[in-house]
Amino acid sequence: MKIGLFDSGLGGLLITQAISARLPEHEYLYLGDTARVPYGNRSQATVLEFTTEAVTYLFGQGCDLIIIACNTASAEALRSLQQRWLPKHYPDRRILGVLVPAAEAAAAATKSKKVGVLATRGTVTSGTFDRELKVLDPAIEVVSSAAPLLVPLVEYDGLEWAEPILERYLAPLHDVDTLILGCTHYPYLKAVIRDMVGKDVEVISQDEVVPDKLADYISRHPELGGPSTQPAQRRYLVTDQTDDAVRIARELAGQPIALELVTL
Ligand code: DGL
Repeated sequence: MKIGLFDSGLGGLLITQAISARLPEHEYLYLGDTARVPYGNRSQATVLEFTTEAVTYLFGQGCDLIIIACNTASAEALRSLQQRWLPKHYPDRRILGVLVPAAEAAAAATKSKKVGVLATRGTVTSGTFDRELKVLDPAIEVVSSAAPLLVPLVEYDGLEWAEPILERYLAPLHDVDTLILGCTHYPYLKAVIRDMVGKDVEVISQDEVVPDKLADYISRHPELGGPSTQPAQRRYLVTDQTDDAVRIARELAGQPIALELVTL
């Protein structure tokens, strides 16, 4: 099976590494919209427009299944793509996001029924995590905190400033027992965040929950395709290539990777 992974930029490489390590038998095509990142502060209409272009491109490259690794795009575009766009254009293929697996893990973990969400402004404003958590368990109370400075902090070697900034963002979430890290870049900060919130708070990091949920989904949907017959390929496409992009990609992927420039 050829699996497409889409992110607004390069943060999605963290979860891509986790997914491809869990399911190495498939082919992966990553697309990062580096020319237009960040999505986190854009309007819903713009996020939907950009995400539609990205999935159109990835399906055009023969992907059987696309994972929208970007939380902002999952929050603001996924439902519309699944319900209106996909049945019209590619009824036999699938698009999945990363919010629902995280929400399911949080709903299963919380005992106090108070769940925190740390995410971009767009994801928080969309209210999508709140809605998904309430569908799973109407008794859950959701407290969200928008954290616009965390993405640049990860991308520009700012970990030494992470703690004071995180203190501000985590303050409204002080009485939750479960915390969802709802952005592509946050797995990079999970050790610091776990340290700061302490062991009484269950931190849900998508790189730890999405790969198993995806493996389960794929095993229940054999019609999407089996393992790749050729040696499983990985390719990484970007819409803008700069020295910064090459450096960030190397850091997030944990190894040098070749970026290919494409136009959507
Ligand atoms: N990929 C985005 C997300 O997961 C973070 C970067 C951005 O704002 O575009 O929400």
